[in-house]
Amino acid sequence: MTSQEIRKSFLDFFKSKGHTIVNSSPVVPFEDPTLLFANAGMNQFKDVFLGTGNRNYKRAADTQKCIRVSGKHNDLEEVGYDTYHHTFFEMLGNWSFGDYYKAEAIQWAWELLTDVWKIPKERLWVTVYRTDDEALNFWKTKTDINHNHILRFDEKDNFWEMGETGPCGPCSEIHVNLSDDFDNPKYVNAGVPECLEIWNLVFIQYNRGADGLLNELPARHVDTGMGFERVCKILQNKESNYDTDVFSPLIERISKLSNVKYEAENDKIPMRVIADHIRTLSFAIADGAVPGNEGRGYVLRRILRRAARYGRKLNLKEPFLFRLVDDLAKTMGDVFPEIVEKKDYVKKIIKSEEEHFNKTLDRGIELFDNISKELENKKEKIIKGEDVFKLYDTFGFPFDLTNVMAREIGFSVDEAGYNKLMEEAKTKSREATKEKFASVNVTMNNLDSFALINDNETEFTGYDELNSVTKIVGIKKDVSNDLIILDRTPFYVEAGGQVDDIGKLRFNDSEFTVIDLLKFENKIIHIVESETLLVKGAEIKAEVDAKYRWDVMRNHSVTHFLHATLRNVLGTHVQQAGSYVGSEYLRFDFSHFQKLTHEEIFDIESIVNEQLRRNLPKIHHKNIPFDEAKKMGAIMFFGDKYGDKVNVVQFGDYTMEFCGGTHVNNSSEIGLFKILSEASIASGIRRIEATTGIGVEKYLITQLEKYKHLDKKVNELQDEKKKIEKELSELKLKEKLNIIPKILAQKISTNNIDIYKSRVEAESMDELKLFGDELRNRIKSGVGLLVSIIDGKVGLVCVVTDDLIKEKKFSAGKIVNEAALIVDGKGGGRPHLATAGGKDISKIDELLRNFSVI
Ligand code: ALA
Repeated sequence: MTSQEIRKSFLDFFKSKGHTIVNSSPVVPFEDPTLLFANAGMNQFKDVFLGTGNRNYKRAADTQKCIRVSGKHNDLEEVGYDTYHHTFFEMLGNWSFGDYYKAEAIQWAWELLTDVWKIPKERLWVTVYRTDDEALNFWKTKTDINHNHILRFDEKDNFWEMGETGPCGPCSEIHVNLSDDFDNPKYVNAGVPECLEIWNLVFIQYNRGADGLLNELPARHVDTGMGFERVCKILQNKESNYDTDVFSPLIERISKLSNVKYEAENDKIPMRVIADHIRTLSFAIADGAVPGNEGRGYVLRRILRRAARYGRKLNLKEPFLFRLVDDLAKTMGDVFPEIVEKKDYVKKIIKSEEEHFNKTLDRGIELFDNISKELENKKEKIIKGEDVFKLYDTFGFPFDLTNVMAREIGFSVDEAGYNKLMEEAKTKSREATKEKFASVNVTMNNLDSFALINDNETEFTGYDELNSVTKIVGIKKDVSNDLIILDRTPFYVEAGGQVDDIGKLRFNDSEFTVIDLLKFENKIIHIVESETLLVKGAEIKAEVDAKYRWDVMRNHSVTHFLHATLRNVLGTHVQQAGSYVGSEYLRFDFSHFQKLTHEEIFDIESIVNEQLRRNLPKIHHKNIPFDEAKKMGAIMFFGDKYGDKVNVVQFGDYTMEFCGGTHVNNSSEIGLFKILSEASIASGIRRIEATTGIGVEKYLITQLEKYKHLDKKVNELQDEKKKIEKELSELKLKEKLNIIPKILAQKISTNNIDIYKSRVEAESMDELKLFGDELRNRIKSGVGLLVSIIDGKVGLVCVVTDDLIKEKKFSAGKIVNEAALIVDGKGGGRPHLATAGGKDISKIDELLRNFSVI
């Protein structure tokens, strides 16, 4: 059977038993913050088990994409070294939601394995939870398994739990012993390749609460999971999962790219790791995760870096992982079409990560080799914490990568030393954020010195009021400051990117500026300069600076619009990676792999503005149960810790986010939204800076001022240009007029009349006249004729001195008109100077040769 056929026969079998075939859920469970990646088929039914959700079927089956790289179920270290663990795998499963239970689950599992798939019964072993006599008896009565092949195990092997919390229950596992010694119980649960666990039947009946206690669920359910790749190996009779048709196209491609055969164990390990990791990377990215520095993103980055490093073992230097996505899409695209639809995007992201890591990978490997050689010389085998940290900090080697590299050469790493340095680095960055408090000399260990009137949580009134009448319930006098706790306050303390409020406390006619705010435990602490008037029990007024706060609120509310719009325009892979919301502008960091184009920025801006103009009212869901918020579909952030009760901020039908911040009441109060800049701040993370309301007004004013300034500057430059041009043409003319002495020297005399004639370089008739004037001024008596080509035509100027006008009745007008006939033109003017134009420039030489006056 091919893997396709095996998958299909499983689903067909359960379809015939009344199961609805459903789709795999995405491998990235954005809706469940307790889970980094889907780790079991039952994830998507968690709510049904807990009794908080419903489906319109009672039986279901599917093949689920799973990733097990973190948390309770983590197989990363085994991958590649053995042949049957994977970071990504398919889990075939069948479920009963309060419908059938142990008997059917056991009977059908047996039927499929032995009847349909014909796995030899004598090779099958099952385990049950040590106290689960019920399951044990069903194995005896509903199947014909050898009774000696039923074993009891304890919690570790036979009590299945989804995670630290969630649905769980006793389970019964089915193992296949492939060795010749298949009647020997010692192989079961021994972690050996000869005897594989292939199917887990879980009888869900409890929920493990956050307090660690088991609570009985309202109904009993069946949740099974079968390792698809393992079953393929068994049914296809292969030595390893990687020899099945699930993996062979990938292995073949890696072999081709690297020119290394899948033969020697030393080469097989990297090939298996790469074939495994590319599946995790591709499916996670296709489902919306992106490599990054935290949480889910960092898991992907670690996996990719491991794979890239294993590539070096096969001498693969150029980015190569991204090339495998095509093969994956070919083999799995029909079952999981998302891998085909998102193929180009997935390749792009993987390639960009590979390129990024490639910059430091070789230098990191070199450093590692040097370190290990040095240790070897000293006969030591433990890589120092500081070296592991350096590899991480400078070369981007995740801890577990260095660990794997050490393991390969029989070394180990000083994990404690590395952790200490990591802690120090984190503390340093925490200290930096704490610096702002240094100014007020706050050392807060506990609230004892406040001598509080009561221990109530400070009531935050700032969602609805900017001005609250309140009472001082605790006060601590510092050297130069008073630290004041009020029973209620409108002052918002920096959280979720939104900055501290500014404002004043008023007592009678006196006012005190709040210079800083702190949150300690559940109290909000206001810091003012030391003041004897303020004492415990005093009734005061707390007043937030309204103008400032409104600016902040506008910028905060618009980040929700921006977030929603980015997801609409760029795709749902966009996740908030950080934000700053101040009064003058906002900053929004998000995952995305490309620079935004001008068109995208323009679209985003105009969509946000269009939505703002829709006058969308804020709906503030305060203190609602987390599950309810989730059900409403509010966007939340992985890694954020949410309590049982949460706040959700919604604007009309456009955005809904988990958010504790303060917001405008209506989108139109935000005014206009303007993006100021867009840039990359880390690999795969982009930052938009933008502003609203007054910020846009200020932006427009400064832009206008800039334009005015520019306009003035342009005029000035134009004037200057004209002046320079004039000077230049005068200079040029002067230069050109240097020809006059030469003309004078070429005088010809006929009948006692001196004639001066020449070609000159004039650019206009006016300039030509200047030539004429200049010539006339410099001769005592005579006639001058100057010719130039002006704009492709012939230009003529004739000058006659006064004596000749008087005595000989010469007229420049007449002379020039006659001369012009030769060049097919005419002209005229006054007796002392006249001009003419002609069309035939080929006759210029002839004209000058023949010109004379009688
Ligand atoms: N949820 C069970 C498992 O993952 C079937 O093993």
